[in-house]
Amino acid sequence: MTKSPNFDFNNDFPSDFTWGVATSSFQIEGAHDVDGKGPSIWDTFCKDKANIKDGSDGTVACDHYHRYREDVGIMASLGVDAYRFSMAWARVQPDGKGAWNEAGFGFYDRLLDELLDRGIRPHATLYHWDLPQGLQDDGGWMNRDTAHRFADYAHEVARRFGNRIEAIATHNEPWCTANLGYGNAQFAPGVVDLKQSIQVSHHLLLSHGLAMRAMREVGGAAQLGIVLNQWTADPATGSEADRAMAEFEYARSVQWFMDPIFKGHYPELALRGHGANAPQVRDGDFDIIKQKIDFLGSNYYFRSWCSAATPPVPPPARHGVTDMGWEIFPEGLPELLIKLKAEYPDLPPVYITENGMANPDVVENGRVHDPARIAYVRSHLAALKEAMDAGVDVRGYFLWSLLDNFEWNSGYAKRFGIVHVDYATQQRTLKDSALWYREFIAARNRAN
Ligand code: NOJ
Repeated sequence: MTKSPNFDFNNDFPSDFTWGVATSSFQIEGAHDVDGKGPSIWDTFCKDKANIKDGSDGTVACDHYHRYREDVGIMASLGVDAYRFSMAWARVQPDGKGAWNEAGFGFYDRLLDELLDRGIRPHATLYHWDLPQGLQDDGGWMNRDTAHRFADYAHEVARRFGNRIEAIATHNEPWCTANLGYGNAQFAPGVVDLKQSIQVSHHLLLSHGLAMRAMREVGGAAQLGIVLNQWTADPATGSEADRAMAEFEYARSVQWFMDPIFKGHYPELALRGHGANAPQVRDGDFDIIKQKIDFLGSNYYFRSWCSAATPPVPPPARHGVTDMGWEIFPEGLPELLIKLKAEYPDLPPVYITENGMANPDVVENGRVHDPARIAYVRSHLAALKEAMDAGVDVRGYFLWSLLDNFEWNSGYAKRFGIVHVDYATQQRTLKDSALWYREFIAARNRAN
């Protein structure tokens, strides 16, 4: 085994801790119209080249649809315990309603077989942003009925696969769907309307609750939960304006999705701030949303830095910034988790379902040197261990991402993979970070 550089980190995580990697359907699968798949809102969004920085799209991506065996082989060679992926709704139900597409389910069936054969435990996400265009044509997430269609889809997945998947998350980062899809048009479907974005967030939560109920009805072995993007919010200065901004930011993003699930209502501060834009909630909605979840998936990349000044005071970025321009701030991870544990006494076991960084990686003589990514992951793991030592029940960590992939409106220019993808040849090359992760996981296995 080639030793990676910087291998001097002791793996002192519990022996049953889950080490994984993560991806999502639209970002890696390609095969956008193969075997009966219907179009999704991201297929549509990419058609307007102005929406994606490099003018690219997801028609081929990493061609994972055809290369999944090779990709699972790479995961097996890294020794990961689990793989987090998402299902493309429009692959299994082309229109988002009506007939199921057996060929689409066939792909996930083969993928699950391959993973299970290799001893890799599947963690699936039902919705990682690629809504069937057919449902968008009916109003998308602004239409309350979409939440019911989502529950039908969840029911069918649980019925078919519920005993072969270790964990099923309803949504991935609903904050992004609402705020970037409907707030500032950075993401599909490209709407700019604050009031709509807040209503969409309510429908997403409602759909989570309806899907949880539908899947519980099926009663498979999979743990059921949701994946949220979360951060701490720090005021840039001690000024009252900055402090108020940070409080509101935390309420409108983190608590906005946590409170309905754990407390059965929206956070007061955020509701007040939203004023006339507050969502329409029907009687009984919170009973649907507030259901026991078996796990919380938390995606952590950075903190939110709140400055009310013009121009805003920039974050200190003591550990630098990533290729996305995001401040590297591992300290925020334990702070966030410890805060969540205090705020939500019913907090279930937590998985860090995403963490990682974009880096301008290049292949040189068959190697990709990405010490910055190794440092990023190491510092976040050390921070995560602090949270666990402080009593937070964290069960696993999924590095984002297995492969370089389609980074949404940034296209292919931003590389998050621990495996480099040459998009012209589809050649995969393990980066130093992949070698490091492999040894890190193996060290756990050796110690136990
Ligand atoms: C969160 C999203 O779930 C994922 O799709 C995205 O690629 C990463 N963050 C990096 O931006």
